[in-house]
Amino acid sequence: MDDPGALKLAKEAPRERTGVRARAVTTAPLAGQSITPWLVVVLVVVLFSGGLFGYDQGVISGALHGIKATFSLSALLVEVVTSWVTLGALLGALAAGELADQIGRKRTVLIAGALFTLGALVQALAPDTVVLVSGRLIIGAGVGVAAVAAPLYAAELAPTAVRGRFVSAYQLAITAGIFLAYLVDGWLSKGDAWRIMLGAAAVPGLLLFAVALVAPRSPRWLMTKQRRADAAAELRKIRPGVDAEPRLDAIDTVLREEGGRASWGEVFSREWRRPLMIGIGLAVFQQITGINAIIYYADQIFASAGFATQSAQTTVTTWAIGGVNVLATLIAIAFIDRLGRRRLLLSGLIGMGASLVVVGIAFRFIVPAAAGATAATGPSGAGIVTLLALVGFIICFAFSMGPVVWTVINEVFPGHIRGRAVAVATAVNWGSAFLVSQSFLTLIGAMGNSLTFWLFALFCGVAWIWIYYRVPETKGQSLEQIQQLWKVAS
Ligand code: BGC
Repeated sequence: MDDPGALKLAKEAPRERTGVRARAVTTAPLAGQSITPWLVVVLVVVLFSGGLFGYDQGVISGALHGIKATFSLSALLVEVVTSWVTLGALLGALAAGELADQIGRKRTVLIAGALFTLGALVQALAPDTVVLVSGRLIIGAGVGVAAVAAPLYAAELAPTAVRGRFVSAYQLAITAGIFLAYLVDGWLSKGDAWRIMLGAAAVPGLLLFAVALVAPRSPRWLMTKQRRADAAAELRKIRPGVDAEPRLDAIDTVLREEGGRASWGEVFSREWRRPLMIGIGLAVFQQITGINAIIYYADQIFASAGFATQSAQTTVTTWAIGGVNVLATLIAIAFIDRLGRRRLLLSGLIGMGASLVVVGIAFRFIVPAAAGATAATGPSGAGIVTLLALVGFIICFAFSMGPVVWTVINEVFPGHIRGRAVAVATAVNWGSAFLVSQSFLTLIGAMGNSLTFWLFALFCGVAWIWIYYRVPETKGQSLEQIQQLWKVAS
């Protein structure tokens, strides 16, 4: 695709600048790019982290019913129990940035594993609401720490040619976690089973901790700590046969250029404003285009579209939203490193926007009385159109704004501030998710269904234009080469 971002790189990448010839890289031989056993270990870390993220985010809706029965919660406490995971995630993400840069990516993942396990157990055994809410905060912190550390770890350890796939595997695991949570909600939503639903996450939490214990360290992070010998040893272990020295030289050169000033001030400095804006912009657009309004409130959307019984709503939500989300993420895994990030983002946004416009139109034909009238016969034609359009939205999100946003956020920042900058973008993502999920029902009440979905569609349009002009293609370039883009472009 001849788009401005790609053209700019091709024209402006100066030949004399070390290793910045973006186009040449894609044709370079892929020595050392094969998947070795240690890379599989990295992948397992990434899959557990994403899976726990998705499960812990998704499981609460089914557990709430039983929790309310056990503790007779007030409306305010219901909201606290639901949303403090997000609060914990926000704080966890910010702390994880500092940790990832200071103590390293691998140890930060270990902390995430410990928090997941502890949080799950505290929730499962909670004798009262204070302990339960503390457990929610701890698990939230685990989600936030993992959300920063795992994709960062994946991006730094993956060979360039498959980096997009590695980070997309993280998204695949998130979607699988959400799907599993929907299924578990369907099976166990009665009585005290909520303790099992929340406590079950301790097992994968412990496994994540165990796998992270033996997982390799990031050579890139070791280089930021001037531990070249360790970095070389890890690199040779992870990718035997790779010529380590020139790769470490390239990392070293870039780190020297950056001057190693790893501070929060540096994250917000003029020099790195462009990648920071890209990271934050993508994080915001991923949320304000509506994904979590649909993930969290699918049951209620389907109810107002005429799916009258609880079991019809749960089945449609589980399979049409949860199942499709997992399957369609595989499209990204197949194409992200071949077609590139921009093509997936731009085409996905067109599909997301079009689907939302259709949902808005369909809701014009669904009046509450008609929805009630269809209770005996199932959803109306407009209800079926709503379902199909939402499936279309999920498919398009799953191959674009889901995985690609996390991939780009984890590859655009320079090494010495990568942890903190990724943390800022991730925290902004959680903040936006929180705002959207808190305001969705209010918006529906104030503007009606159609206008609310059209508002999300409008944001898809704005996101498309912004990405078209602002986000360059990063496929096939090493993390060091990507950093040079900001100098070329500024
Ligand atoms: C987003 C989550 C969302 C999930 C849905 C992720 O990329 O960050 O907020 O719930 O995708 O698949």
